Amino acid sequence: MNLDIVILAAGKGTRMNSNLPKVLHRIGGDSMLGHVLSAASQLQAAKTHIVVGYGADEIRENFADRADLQWAMQEQQLGTGHAVMQAMPGVDVSDSDKKILVLYGDVPLINFDTLSKLVQQSETNTLSILTLVTDRPTGLGRIVRDDGGKILAIVEEKDASEEQKQIKEINTGIMVISAPKLNFWLDALCNDNAQGEYYLTDVVAMAAADADCALAAMVINDENEVQGVNDKAQLAMLERHYQMNKADQLLEAGVLLCDPSRIDIRGELTTGSDVEIDINALFEGKVTLGNGVKVGANVCIKDSTIADNAHILPGSIIEGADIGERASVGPYARIRPGTVLKQDTKIGNFVETKNAIIGKGSKASHLAYIGDAELGENVNIGAGTIFCNYDGVSKHKTLIGNNVFIGSNSVLVAPVKLADNAFVAAGSSVNSDVPADTLAVGRAKQRNISGWKRPTKK
Ligand code: UD1
Ligand code: MG
Repeated sequence: MNLDIVILAAGKGTRMNSNLPKVLHRIGGDSMLGHVLSAASQLQAAKTHIVVGYGADEIRENFADRADLQWAMQEQQLGTGHAVMQAMPGVDVSDSDKKILVLYGDVPLINFDTLSKLVQQSETNTLSILTLVTDRPTGLGRIVRDDGGKILAIVEEKDASEEQKQIKEINTGIMVISAPKLNFWLDALCNDNAQGEYYLTDVVAMAAADADCALAAMVINDENEVQGVNDKAQLAMLERHYQMNKADQLLEAGVLLCDPSRIDIRGELTTGSDVEIDINALFEGKVTLGNGVKVGANVCIKDSTIADNAHILPGSIIEGADIGERASVGPYARIRPGTVLKQDTKIGNFVETKNAIIGKGSKASHLAYIGDAELGENVNIGAGTIFCNYDGVSKHKTLIGNNVFIGSNSVLVAPVKLADNAFVAAGSSVNSDVPADTLAVGRAKQRNISGWKRPTKK
């Protein structure tokens, strides 16, 4: 099909009470316009035009990587018809087969299947409208039909008679129109109505009056899919709806969710079999959970892979990491970007890691900072160990072999190497390399002063 898409996104969204352009507000971690574009992209249209006005530069910057998009500027928001007019110079209206799909940037949950059906239906029609039958039509354009059910016009709430206000079938705003016809009708639009705007919806009456034009409506069932966002309450409502959908998909895939209403996914979560997720887990970006992974309560995981049977205990935060099979993380661990935990590792409470490879079976069970390091297998990092990776200017590396033991409350001043089987005495400051099979004692020798008296108050 020879299709162009026009997305209307020029409105300020006054009722959002925000400086951020309305279509950049987020649902499930992606902007509303991003969601619309994701659904639209799957249609493989010839061109996608976005009509912007308020915050145009900011919106464009957010999609700077999408060189395929055509931007049209609407300086003044004079109505939906006027908005579409701004995109028309970019549409090849000499092509009699060209169709235009109109979408709204603030109707984020519209999905590809619906659009694809509407576009298919439009192949035999001049104009196809996506409509909804609802008990709450207030504020929306009503679909006016004759006794035989033929569509005659769309009447906006503010222009509707009392009788027309009783109509429950409403215009979702989404429609597919023949491009040359639309171009012709847009020329004839006037703003002689209650809002003094150029209504796109007025083209429906023009199409109905044209004997050569076929009109059709496709009625959609899911109200949320066509719900527009005008304020933060509607944004929050759609966010919950979106998250419930995500939770339902996980449940269907066999994931155990302790409470499907207390999980948030802002990106793409892939799960293996027998995954268990406790309450208030947050997943961002691309996250993969292998088979048998358990995620505890209040865990945040971003852009990470968790291998089979790893357990993430409550309160842990993981970002940009690769967690190996049967690894145990937390409770209250902070795993930062560049962390690789090999299989059977343990990172316990109040341990922070960054840019660190932790070898198979190695453990840091309590209170430690491990940054810019490579640890071999079966290393034990005692409580309170700090890897001093930063000298105030540059970062340096700490390299640790297999079976190394770091006694509690030690500092390892990088760059430094500890070879296999090295043993660091508790409370050491290690600033030179430790050879294999060697004990390093890096602390002042203890002196005992006998007969010493505590100071007393005078
Ligand atoms: C519009 C429809 C109405 C439909 C409703 C569905 C018209 C005249 N009315 O009404 O039939 O039931 O949507 O939500 O089309 N926009 C621009 N430039 C403008 C005006 C609007 O880009 O000059 C954009 C807005 O940013 C928004 C969309 O178009 O994304 C719809 O505008 P809005 O003012 O919300 O339309 P409604 O009056 O709600
Ligand atoms: Mg409006």
